[in-house]
Amino acid sequence: SNLKGRGVWRYKDAIPGNYSKIVSINEGNTPLIPSRIYKQTFYKFEGANPTGSFKDRGMTVAVSSAVNTGYKVVAAASTGNTAASAAAYASRAGLRIYLVLPKGKVALGKLAQSILYGATILEVNGSFDIAMASVMRLYKDLGIVYPLNSFNPWRLEGQKTIAYEIAEEIGEPDNVIVPVGNAGNIYAIWKGFTELQEAGVISKIPRMIGIQAEGAAPIAKAIEKGLNEPEFFENPETIATAIRIGKPVNWKKAIKAIRSSKGTALSVSDQEIIDAQKKLAREEGIGAEPASAAALAGYEKAINEGIIDKDQKNVLILTGHALKDPDAMLRLDARRILINPEHIENIVLGEINDNN
Ligand code: F0G
Repeated sequence: SNLKGRGVWRYKDAIPGNYSKIVSINEGNTPLIPSRIYKQTFYKFEGANPTGSFKDRGMTVAVSSAVNTGYKVVAAASTGNTAASAAAYASRAGLRIYLVLPKGKVALGKLAQSILYGATILEVNGSFDIAMASVMRLYKDLGIVYPLNSFNPWRLEGQKTIAYEIAEEIGEPDNVIVPVGNAGNIYAIWKGFTELQEAGVISKIPRMIGIQAEGAAPIAKAIEKGLNEPEFFENPETIATAIRIGKPVNWKKAIKAIRSSKGTALSVSDQEIIDAQKKLAREEGIGAEPASAAALAGYEKAINEGIIDKDQKNVLILTGHALKDPDAMLRLDARRILINPEHIENIVLGEINDNN
């Protein structure tokens, strides 16, 4: 078996750089699942990656690059998924890793993964944005770590393969709906489609539609108000902790991707995110974490507002697995009934009869 020919590395001719060694855990090649309830709509389920999020696509390239350049110490700020992914790939490469996390604001599954893979966890009081600034201090001011955040261009080179896989499976979507936090992924996917168009593989670039949570929506607000520069959110807040970011590092790139593709950005409420997570699970059978469900909430809003036509071909990027955030799942309404095992039929027969 040749890892260089699978998943993300299937597109190695489109990934710049020379790699004598590739650090891979078989990332990419994720399922594109047709919706059961919406016509011409597909879910790109990035939760199927090795650590359960799209971050693995970027991490395989960035960590390979670090290894080939001879770095021994890597670091990342994270709301959780970058941390889990970076920790896994650092282990795979034998690198020392420092993760800077917003204390108390990282979903349980992600924190547990970072512990599992043996990373050193540095916690800050405050948001992701403060953690990001701390990593910048280690990287830019002191030059003592190799950074694995998405301002690292190798991350985006890996993540752009989402576009390559979509184009291979369904050709040219009209709209691609992406949850936005630090704003790297929406740009990476747009870059992938742009390269495919330049290579003559597709004729048009889909509209990139970014979705943010209302309490952490600098990009959506900037697009809505037609600003050239976003107004940052000092105290970002949302249950979708993955995208709880007030000052996205890649804001310029994201705005470029959105404007040049004639896309847009929208914000959705926490309640809309929760409802969308439930709907995805209970009507489509797909378990995605809240930030990913924001894509569905935003898609429905875009349909209601006439931004997306029902008959267009759409892809929603489901960026992370539901298991990442057990607390979010446990907060949903549940049917749990303590029964006497000898009279189990009392409940079930009663309900079956009621439904007849
Ligand atoms: N969805 C999930 C599940 C994420 O974890 C993230 C980002 C995004 C969407 C947004 O992607 O930042 O490229 O706009 N998570 C980062 C992290 C910030 O640290 O795990 P983006």
